[in-house]
Amino acid sequence: MTSTAPIGVFDSGLGGISVVRQLVHDMPHERVLYFGDSAHAPYGVKTPEQVRELSLRIVKRFVEQGVKAVVIACNTATSAAVNELRDLYDFPIIGMEPALKVACDRGHGVRQRVIVAATPLTLREHKFAALMDRFKEDHTIFPEPCPDLVEIVESGQLDNHDLVMHTLHQYFDQYDLSSIDSVVLGCTHFVFYREYFRELLPDTAAIIDGNEGTVRHLGVVLESLGKLAPEDAAGSVELANSDPSERIATLSRELLER
Ligand code: DGL
Repeated sequence: MTSTAPIGVFDSGLGGISVVRQLVHDMPHERVLYFGDSAHAPYGVKTPEQVRELSLRIVKRFVEQGVKAVVIACNTATSAAVNELRDLYDFPIIGMEPALKVACDRGHGVRQRVIVAATPLTLREHKFAALMDRFKEDHTIFPEPCPDLVEIVESGQLDNHDLVMHTLHQYFDQYDLSSIDSVVLGCTHFVFYREYFRELLPDTAAIIDGNEGTVRHLGVVLESLGKLAPEDAAGSVELANSDPSERIATLSRELLER
């Protein structure tokens, strides 16, 4: 695959568009093919086998389109499918996981109290258990499944302030938020809620997502293979979705430009 080949980016639906925004910002010369699987969203309440099957189907489509790398812009699909995808393909497959390390490192040795907001499946899978094992002795970690936050984005209700705040309160009122050092947004859909989380949380709590780190990692991997797009290349983004409705196409464009 040449350096001018596109990068395939996928998610269960519209959440991965938050990763595409970061990619376009940091790597403006790349061609991005985005695939959102909104017809099958949410992934976070499915079985790992179902999510693996759906992810394999999407990556097969990217292979037919001649991608040079794939970004799984979905923590849930990464937990369920990254190993199998890496066994199957020899181009780089970049996955995502909740940015718990970033949250814990902020303490510089001081114990941190961290909420990890993610989907039920991400928090149930071995990959997250392994991540927790690395940090749980030195830090206090609260995994919080928030499936409704996926549905609100998919149904185009992200601007419904009352609905969003009500939903956030349902998940987070159980915590003494003034004692929390950071909240990790461990689902790419949740990145669109950053301002709402800011409204919910005291200023002392940081809000952390993995998008920047994921794109940086993609850049390092492509550079090491000599496959970064040339600097005179015009970057582009093509948005595709398994839900062919005009509503989803419009929503996807809006989220990209948000
Ligand atoms: N955006 C996804 C993630 O990062 C999954 C959302 C879902 O479909 O449940 O985990």
